[in-house]
Amino acid sequence: MTLPESRGDTYRISLVCLGNICRSPMAEAVLRARLDEAGLSGRVAVDSAGTGSWHVGEPADPRARAALRRRGYDGEAHRARQLGASWFDSHDLVLALDHANLATLLAMAPTPDAAHHVRLLRSFDESVTDRDDHAVPDPYYGTDADFDTGLDIIERAADGLVDALRWHLGADQAW
Ligand code: 4NP
Repeated sequence: MTLPESRGDTYRISLVCLGNICRSPMAEAVLRARLDEAGLSGRVAVDSAGTGSWHVGEPADPRARAALRRRGYDGEAHRARQLGASWFDSHDLVLALDHANLATLLAMAPTPDAAHHVRLLRSFDESVTDRDDHAVPDPYYGTDADFDTGLDIIERAADGLVDALRWHLGADQAW
């Protein structure tokens, strides 16, 4: 999938869910690890935020941290933040974890160009078909298994996103 152009030397990505304590911190930890493995961590910066303010300043949900630990990822340093209008200037790609987050981001985008930098994380999951839901389901009222299922989805989407970034940044280098 074609990525929006970067507006600086570093490609800046933000992952956005509702509370910034479950899905987007998990996605941030997974994407960071995948970028590290791909040798791209020096060229891509990753952070996360929530559309809501309820959990600002809190660590990731203990169930999200446990799910990350079970697979060897680190989400311990996370503190929840709420995104603001500056997100569209400070990031090249703003990735929503579900359709409600996507709608919030598109409504906040100040210009059509800003909206062009907003996508669903799962649009990078190459296993998704038109018949699948393109969201990472909200596990907040769910079980540990729901957090693991969320991580499965996030891992597949992160793999597709890293492939897209590898191509995009490689193509940049060729110029
Ligand atoms: P997240 O999960 O959006 O994946 O961080 C949620 C966290 C908190 C709430 C809902 C979802 N909440 O209603 O407080």
